Amino acid sequence: MLNKRTDKIKITRRKGIVLAGGKGSRLLPLTLGTSKQLMPIFDKPLIYYPLSTLIMSGVQEVLFISTPHDLPSFQRLLGDGSKWGMMFNYAIQDQPRGIADAFRIGRDYLDGEPSVLILGDNIFFGHGMQAVLSHAETRSGATIFASLVRDPHRFGIVELNANYDVIGLEEKPAAPKSHWAVTGLYFVDGRAPDFADEIECSSRGELEILSLLNHYLQRQQLGVEILHRGYAWLDAGTHESLHQASDFVKTLQDRQGLLVCSPEELAYRNGLISIDRLAELADEQKQSTYGEALMTIVRQERDDLSKR
Ligand code: G1P
Repeated sequence: MLNKRTDKIKITRRKGIVLAGGKGSRLLPLTLGTSKQLMPIFDKPLIYYPLSTLIMSGVQEVLFISTPHDLPSFQRLLGDGSKWGMMFNYAIQDQPRGIADAFRIGRDYLDGEPSVLILGDNIFFGHGMQAVLSHAETRSGATIFASLVRDPHRFGIVELNANYDVIGLEEKPAAPKSHWAVTGLYFVDGRAPDFADEIECSSRGELEILSLLNHYLQRQQLGVEILHRGYAWLDAGTHESLHQASDFVKTLQDRQGLLVCSPEELAYRNGLISIDRLAELADEQKQSTYGEALMTIVRQERDDLSKR
């Protein structure tokens, strides 16, 4: 997490995509009336977390992809992005055709530029996250982010050699070759939409992200950032994991008095909005503890600024 203004990161021309589709079937009946990515993770909607990761990676322009049914709710929540000094765009995925489909949907929006895709239910947390993202930004080709998991058969898995080079990728293998999961965060260059056009649907009828990443691997252009101990990677796809994620955020925030993944705070710390704008955003939400926490940041920052 960013704590000081000096941590400000460079704005990149890389464009962001948040894929927030799917039916959320593993969260029924919670998802009967609303989308999974709008579920609360303690004090904020789930989608704020992946969006915060994108802000930390320096993107200013984001495309949100969701179902025809849920897209209006995201538009209501997030607007055109200007309140956070950003630009938000929206697109529909009418069928769950897989993660790689996001690059086909986003082809015109991307317009040949590099991008970073994040799944709408993936939460990343760790003090060094900023540095990891900055490092990925400097690489050409594509970059994945690997995290250790106890139950590798539930995820895309990356096989690594002793130097932590990628040597293989497998989607939900019955006999996993490693415990390194491929997390739902992918940095790719401008060729991703073309590679997405070349891949075929898997047995589950989806355009798999690992099939797309294999195009980079075959050309030896797939890098990996390792999220060692000290990083939390959570998804919120089941009742259990949703609850755990909420608990995790609540525990950290209660203890440290710092917000975890607040887009308003990150937009301010990255220079996308001024302190006065942050104060307005805090004031609009002052009846909640979230708004109060933003107000505390405003007070501390104004105090710091007056001492300079
Ligand atoms: C997807 C990807 C998988 C990745 C996971 C991360 O799985 O296919 O490679 O490890 O997201 O959340 P799914 O959510 O479709 O089961």
